[in-house]
Amino acid sequence: MIRRYDFAPLDGITKAVYRRVWQRFFGGADRCFIPYFSPTKEHLITKRERVELLPENNPDAVLVPQVMTNRAPELIWAAETAQSFGYRELNLNAGCPSGTITAKGKGAGLLASPDTLDALLDGACGKLCLPLSVKARIGFANPDEFPRLLDIFNRYPLASLTLHVRVRKDKYSGALHYDAFRYALRESRNPVSYNGDLRTVGEVSAFAERFPDADAVMIGRGAVADPALFRKLRGGAAASRDELRDFTAALFDAYTIFYGGQTGHAAQRMREVWFYLIHLFDDTRRLNKAMRRFRTATEYRAIADEIFRELPLRSDSAGDLI
Ligand SMILES: Cc1cc2nc3c(=O)[nH]c(=O)nc-3n(C[C@H](O)[C@H](O)[C@H](O)COP(=O)(O)O)c2cc1C
Repeated sequence: MIRRYDFAPLDGITKAVYRRVWQRFFGGADRCFIPYFSPTKEHLITKRERVELLPENNPDAVLVPQVMTNRAPELIWAAETAQSFGYRELNLNAGCPSGTITAKGKGAGLLASPDTLDALLDGACGKLCLPLSVKARIGFANPDEFPRLLDIFNRYPLASLTLHVRVRKDKYSGALHYDAFRYALRESRNPVSYNGDLRTVGEVSAFAERFPDADAVMIGRGAVADPALFRKLRGGAAASRDELRDFTAALFDAYTIFYGGQTGHAAQRMREVWFYLIHLFDDTRRLNKAMRRFRTATEYRAIADEIFRELPLRSDSAGDLI
């Protein structure tokens, strides 16, 4: 039975502005994961990263910050920093597939070098002032790597191990390796959580039936595609057209304030949100194309208005998440 629903970190989308507005309109996730910050060797983070983490920018939700590093001193420092902001857990990113990140041996790059992963956890665990959880893929190049990786994770006490059940080259759309998750449920000494392609209440129910021992899932794109998804998973109502109209308008306004009044920047952010949210409507072909191509905030508003005026609203999102 699923007892915990986490909102996945989606860099560029589920940042502080989005989380605040989403929480006000929908909420329903047990925890939201903050997209990663990357400390330097000098133990500095950018001003943007600090703004993202500040408690005053993150009211009303249980949040877990995430760090991207392959060095124990930075991991230890990141935990201290997270604790100083009032957080109760730190998450390590061992899944990001981006070439620039993996080339540095970070994100999913950690999985390509199990010895580095082991050394990182060995050097940091025991010196961390907060519980550490890990969000990982099931391998770098091949799912066969998973048993060795799980052996390493099993040597350390983790708050949880969230598994995106793909390898790095498959990014967010290749084959899902459910066998690896089944193996993790059986062999992991740490609590495991599933992540990957859950979009509807029906899909989560089917997952729970298939894996009766699973008790936690993390959902990302599916929850941006249907902002009421966590509420529905708790038996609540689907999003109404008015609610979605008000939510997207409030989000646009919040982004406009964040960008110092630059509505063009706000509209660009909304494009990223609509990339997924459009799947909650039918007959989207023309307006989806327009949403991907608009140039100004005025054009953006006109397209959003037309979507709400013209397109049938679905009860569940449909289509691919990519
Ligand atoms: C645009 C985008 C940004 C992401 N940013 C992060 C991130 O900062 N940290 C992380 O661990 N995963 C990140 N992910 C991966 C998601 O957290 C999640 O694992 C992935 O989307 C698969 O889950 P889903 O099918 O429920 O969306 C990102 C994914 C996307 C598509």
